[in-house]
Amino acid sequence: MTLLKISGLSAGYGQVSVLHDIDLTVEQGELVTVIGTNGAGKTTLLRTISGLMKPSSGAVHFDGRDVTRLDGPATARAGIAHVPENRRVFTGLSVFENLKLGGFVARRDRKQRDEDLTRLVGQFPILEERRNQAAGSLSGGEQQMLAIAMALMARPKLLILDEPSLGLAPLVTQRVFDEIERLHREGVTILLVEQLANQALQIADRGVVLKLGHVAALGTARELMNDESVQRAYL
Ligand SMILES: Nc1ncnc2c1ncn2[C@@H]1O[C@H](COP(=O)(O)OP(=O)(O)O)[C@@H](O)[C@H]1O
Ligand SMILES: [Mg+2]
Repeated sequence: MTLLKISGLSAGYGQVSVLHDIDLTVEQGELVTVIGTNGAGKTTLLRTISGLMKPSSGAVHFDGRDVTRLDGPATARAGIAHVPENRRVFTGLSVFENLKLGGFVARRDRKQRDEDLTRLVGQFPILEERRNQAAGSLSGGEQQMLAIAMALMARPKLLILDEPSLGLAPLVTQRVFDEIERLHREGVTILLVEQLANQALQIADRGVVLKLGHVAALGTARELMNDESVQRAYL
């Protein structure tokens, strides 16, 4: 089943157009990655999907609905969880308080929320160990895991990740990617934006190369990794 379908999407800032006629689908259970250099339009694409920006033309369909004109909170309620660039956690609140806030969007009762808390900290043991520490005292990689776990507290149908590797050391990045791969294996549908094309393609089913706001290439992760022009430019 196609969970996310983007058709002919264009968007920009004021007079400046950034995205041009983007087509992209994500099937239920897939991990699709959008790769491209800095400024290619990756973040703009994610912001348009999750209702933080309005497209100038085109449509976004999600889970059988037209969500093109919905705002951020409405897309969140529809089941899209967006972890933005620079992992915004509440640094002054504890790990547990952050996770609870992540669950509010789903408007579930306390019992369900506590069940989700237990399940998620079981998946991310580092968060269990630090449950009562301020989120600001966590390392960059741990904050990224927390940001992802917060998003999962809403039980989203689609998890959108914007450059989870940003500012992380290579070894830490690999650990975060291992977690993303694990979530994918457990059935979470993921749209992953990354500049680290190689590492993203290693764990993805399919990929799209974004270049100056256009789709420059698309295919299975294997096809893209073996594509000479993609290798030359991105790998
Ligand atoms: N708030 C903004 N106002 C004007 N232009 C912007 C804004 N944010 C991004 N841009 C421009 O849009 C283009 C795409 O940016 P972005 O989507 O952030 O790319 P990426 O995430 O791939 O690095 C860039 O040329 C950038 O300068
Ligand atoms: Mg970006």
